[in-house]
Amino acid sequence: MSEVLCAENITQRFGGLDALKNVTMHVKEGEIIGVIGPNGAGKTTLFNCITGMYRPTEGKVSMLGTDITGWRPYEITAHGFARTFQNIRLFPKMTVLDNVMVGMHVQTKLLGKERFIPGKAKRAMNVAIKRAEELLKLFGLYENRFEMATSLPYGDQRKVEIVRALAIRPKLLLLDEPAAGMNGAETEELGKLVYNLRDMGNTILLIEHDMRFVMNICDRLYVLNDGALIAEGTPAEIRANPIVIEAYLGKDE
Ligand SMILES: Nc1ncnc2c1ncn2[C@@H]1O[C@H](COP(=O)(O)OP(=O)(O)OP(=O)(O)O)[C@@H](O)[C@H]1O
Ligand SMILES: [Mg+2]
Repeated sequence: MSEVLCAENITQRFGGLDALKNVTMHVKEGEIIGVIGPNGAGKTTLFNCITGMYRPTEGKVSMLGTDITGWRPYEITAHGFARTFQNIRLFPKMTVLDNVMVGMHVQTKLLGKERFIPGKAKRAMNVAIKRAEELLKLFGLYENRFEMATSLPYGDQRKVEIVRALAIRPKLLLLDEPAAGMNGAETEELGKLVYNLRDMGNTILLIEHDMRFVMNICDRLYVLNDGALIAEGTPAEIRANPIVIEAYLGKDE
C-alpha cells in the first residue's frame, strides 16, 4: 500500500512557542486516521503545515513520495490534498452547487491548446456539474443545491464543505473537526458517511474531539499534547494508554 502522506519531524515555531515539536506521521492509501488531543495541542497547526498554509520551521512533508515542503496551498490542493476548516468557510453569496463547483476549478480549467477545442470547456463543465450533483446526492443535499449555502442549517454547511473538498477527487481528504457543533444524530450520520467514503476509495485524515466518532471509524490515531506526539495506535490501544488517559481522555473514558 502506498503512503499518501508522510510528515517527518515537523516542528512549527511561533515566536517563543513550539506549536509542534518533532511530529512524525504516516497515512497509507485507504486509511482513516484520526488526530486527537486537548485544545491548543497543535492539531490544526499540523493540518496547516501539511496543506501549505504554514511552511514548517523544521521537517518534511511528502505526498505519495513527492517532497511538497514549502509548496503553496493551491499547488498542494491541485496535487491532491483537500481540506475543510475548523470554522466553516463557505462563500455566503453563492449557492450550494456553486460552492462545490468552486472547489473543482482545478479540474475544469483548460490548459494550453485545449482552450481552443470547440465544446471542450462546456463538456468539462458538464462533467464537473454531474460529479458535484452526485456528491450532493450522497450527502443528502441535492434538493438544496440551488439554495444559498449559508442559509442551510449548520450541520449541512459542514457537509457542503466536505463535498467541496471531495469534488477535486483528493488523494487525501483532511477534515478539521467535521462533527463540531453537530448533535448526536447528525454526528452518527456523518460517521457513516465518512466511513462510506473510504469504501469508495478515499483516504481520510481527521481531527475530532468526539471520541465515539473517532473510536468508531478510525483505523489508527495520533495523539498530540502540547505540540508533541504522545501516542499512536489503534483506537483500542489509545483508549488503554495511560499517558493518553492522563493527558486527554480522563479516567472516566
Ligand atoms: N498563527 C499562529 N501564531 C501564533 N500562535 C499560533 C498560531 N496558530 C496556532 N498558534 C498556537 O499554537 C498552539 C496550537 O494551536 P492549534 O490551533 O494548532 O491547536 P488545536 O490542537 O487545533 O486546538 P483546538 O482543539 O482548540 O482546535 C496554540 O497555543 C495556538 O495558540
Ligand atoms: Mg484546531
